[in-house]
Amino acid sequence: MMMMMMIKLSFFSFALLLCIASSNAQNQGVGFGYGGTNGPNKWGALSPYYSKCSAGKLQSPIDIPKKQTFYSRRLGSLVRDYHPANATLVNHIFNIAMFFGKGAGDMVLNGKNYTLKQMHWHTPSEHLINGVQYAAELQMVHQAQDGDFAVVATLFKLGDEEPFLTKMKERLERLREDKCGGNTTGQVEVGEVDTKHIERKTRKYFRYIGSLTTPPCSQNVSWTILGKVRSLSEEQMQLLKAPLDISYKNNSRPVQPLNGRKVEMFHELADKTDDDNNEVRN
Ligand SMILES: *[C@@H]1O[C@H](CO)[C@@H](O)[C@H](O)[C@H]1NC(C)=O
Ligand SMILES: *[C@@H]1O[C@H](CO)[C@@H](O)[C@H](O)[C@H]1NC(C)=O
Ligand SMILES: *[C@@H]1O[C@H](CO)[C@@H](O)[C@H](O)[C@H]1NC(C)=O
Ligand SMILES: *[C@@H]1O[C@H](CO)[C@@H](O)[C@H](O)[C@H]1NC(C)=O
Repeated sequence: MMMMMMIKLSFFSFALLLCIASSNAQNQGVGFGYGGTNGPNKWGALSPYYSKCSAGKLQSPIDIPKKQTFYSRRLGSLVRDYHPANATLVNHIFNIAMFFGKGAGDMVLNGKNYTLKQMHWHTPSEHLINGVQYAAELQMVHQAQDGDFAVVATLFKLGDEEPFLTKMKERLERLREDKCGGNTTGQVEVGEVDTKHIERKTRKYFRYIGSLTTPPCSQNVSWTILGKVRSLSEEQMQLLKAPLDISYKNNSRPVQPLNGRKVEMFHELADKTDDDNNEVRN
């Protein structure tokens, strides 16, 4: 009996060691980090391919100065036409992402189609609004035929459960278990995703030109930050962090200077009176 317990105990500590060892090994593969010698202010020097991270003048994320955003009727309502697609949830060690294979439909921006390729989460949020950082941010990455990117971001505060993450609970738990079992594949098939869960109607959004928020920090990315902050539960936030390496559990790049960029804003109810009226008139 005692022997059994000891074996169990040593097996447990071995598994724990394995978990730490394997995550350190994976850590080196990623190259960039969120603190220390490979933290965000060092990214530009880590590789010639990452030079935009330090030299670029149109970098993301930013702190959105609500009162200084420009209402732009020209932007119009957000046009998105997603369709069901088979998806795969992947543990990138530095974030959790969902890939849609050939894509899950398009977003139309200035007459150009951008296909939804993948989406991933950051904790806490990368974009700030009026200096406020939120608990998490979902970034939906769209790409056009010519390679241009358009990203749609949703900010989350702690509160009620987020329905899509509730559906993904078991899969996220599997990613967490795979990680500690030293499974290097770190991916889970999701099957068909009903896009009604990710295509939430939005009346208001912010728009600016920025970059990818991880190396190589490529610029000319069209950013759309949804105006409505949604919520996720504390448990869901922990589940998004659990499969990640310890140094990537906080995986948000600090905000970057605007360098004279304008942040535009669109609101469907711009002519009506509502509680957002003050921002709208600016
Ligand atoms: C998803 O995969 C299943 C099984 O391979 C297939 O039957 C189905 O048509 C696929 N759905 C889409 C939208 O591609
Ligand atoms: C590793 O993960 C893959 C994909 O999720 C799975 O098919 C495989 O069974 C896992 N292997 C172990 C040893 O857990
Ligand atoms: C930047 O993006 C716009 C549209 O999003 C595109 O027309 C333009 O060619 C791009 N410029 C570069 C340098 O990639
Ligand atoms: C992440 O950030 C939170 C809040 O700032 C902090 O309490 C926590 O220690 C950080 N975690 C890690 C692993 O750095």
